[in-house]
Amino acid sequence: MNRRALDGGGRERLARQHEAGKLSARERIDLLLDPGSFVEIDRFVVHRCADFGMDKQKVLGDGVVTGWGLIDGRKVMVFAQDFTVIGGSLSGAYASKICKVMDLAMKIGAPVIGLNDSGGARIQEGVESLAGYADIFLRNTLASGVVPQISAILGPCAGGAVYSPAITDFILMVERTSYMFITGPEVIKTVTNEDVTKEDLGGAATHASRSGVCHLTAPDDRASLAQLRELLSFLPSNNTEDPPRRAATDPVDREVPELDAMVPTEPSKPYDIKQVVRAVVDDGHLLEIHERYAQNIVVGFARIGGAPVGVVANQPQVLAGCLDIKASIKAARFVRFCDCFNIPLVTLVDVPGFLPGTDQEYGGIIAHGAKLLYAFAEATVPKVTVITRKAYGGAYDVMASKHIRADYNLAFPTAEIAVMGPEGAVNIVYRREIQQAADPAAARARFVEDYKTKFANPYKAAELGFVDEVIYPRMLRIRLARALDLLRDKRDKNPPRKHGNIPL
Ligand code: HXC
Repeated sequence: MNRRALDGGGRERLARQHEAGKLSARERIDLLLDPGSFVEIDRFVVHRCADFGMDKQKVLGDGVVTGWGLIDGRKVMVFAQDFTVIGGSLSGAYASKICKVMDLAMKIGAPVIGLNDSGGARIQEGVESLAGYADIFLRNTLASGVVPQISAILGPCAGGAVYSPAITDFILMVERTSYMFITGPEVIKTVTNEDVTKEDLGGAATHASRSGVCHLTAPDDRASLAQLRELLSFLPSNNTEDPPRRAATDPVDREVPELDAMVPTEPSKPYDIKQVVRAVVDDGHLLEIHERYAQNIVVGFARIGGAPVGVVANQPQVLAGCLDIKASIKAARFVRFCDCFNIPLVTLVDVPGFLPGTDQEYGGIIAHGAKLLYAFAEATVPKVTVITRKAYGGAYDVMASKHIRADYNLAFPTAEIAVMGPEGAVNIVYRREIQQAADPAAARARFVEDYKTKFANPYKAAELGFVDEVIYPRMLRIRLARALDLLRDKRDKNPPRKHGNIPL
């Protein structure tokens, strides 16, 4: 019996799976988990359907391999859909197997990892299959913020089936062998007459760069599973634990002299904020999330002194680092994830404001920008903020300012904290004086100079206590490490309530 169960849909179908560039469910589990640690549950479960000749098509395990194992020595619950068994389609019994590992995960406080590769609802089972999906969706929702949930999409994932991964914390996709969509190309052609390929509609590249549905991509199953292990190394097993610390491999008292020249003093000269991030975190390593989506903001995980942090940073190289709809949503989601799982936030600010334009206004930048404000404001994890250069207008408030409960606010001497840039400000404040001056250009230049002396520096904010320290860039790693160490046992709470009402 055991041997038979291991065969899944049989040799021929397994060969087809390999030909398609995909690994089998069991091969994937073996690569994901520490060697030899997998313990299978429900190996002998079969489906209960007798219609459409299904009583003659029973395979032990029924299209999903479930169980638990270890990743870096820590317990995880896992399910891997087996496309070789009736296309990995979901029956009632199959859904119960997934629900069982999710229930166990909640009881013991372990992450849930789903390896998805399925034709969706098992057509022969009708509503029983739909009910099975709903049982999973409910558990995804209840587990949200309690245990990390990670979905790797390693094959098809279509129809309502996409909503389980969508509720989980991270979606990983494999280039060219995975796809996700609500309705496929044929339905789209019938309804809207659009021609689109499966890959363009719902492939990894589309979801990583256009829709933002996917957080991480990899060239093949093996690389995707390695990525998943790495992602997990930054996360605690549940919301009552701190993220796992590693022995520090990089001295925290290291000055970073190259930082002194990395941020240009000219306010509108672009530079790569990722260079700054990599210069200060342990071993220059940043696991970037949503790397190809809303590139005007950078989010990802890194370590400082061996302890995981979530990094949020405006990227002056793209759209001058402006906040727009996509960037606000991307960063808000990341901030909320970190807050759920006790991961301190390090925010690097260089932001000229929110992106102007009818596209943005009609698209609802008011509501979407508010998500980021809300996320930073409600977060109770340690929050350390550094203003590297510009912090203008509402974006200054939003980007983890002191006023919305950042714990430690640093600024470089190049920081400019003001309602708007000098040119815009003097055009409004001194419009009449400039018009009436004998030499308007010279008058404007004088006013701009005046304004810069007053506001284009961090000292007014520091005088008011909104910035705690003005530091030389080379000291950033040392000051961040000290601040995070200071805040390690921080305790803060939000008022009791059922839940807040983030502007969705
Ligand atoms: C039953 C299914 C199945 C399904 C695939 N199979 N999907 N059986 N229910 N949903 C079977 C096929 O009949 C086939 O069996 C075997 O699995 C392999 O499928 P192929 O079609 O040969 O594979 P491939 O060519 O790679 O195509 C894969 C596919 C295609 C694109 C996923 O199978 C497909 O379009 N399937 C139907 C997808 C679908 O419409 N699902 C329902 C979505 S709605 P044999 O014996 O011939 O090898 C949904 C709602 C969820 O999921 C709702 C939640 C609220």
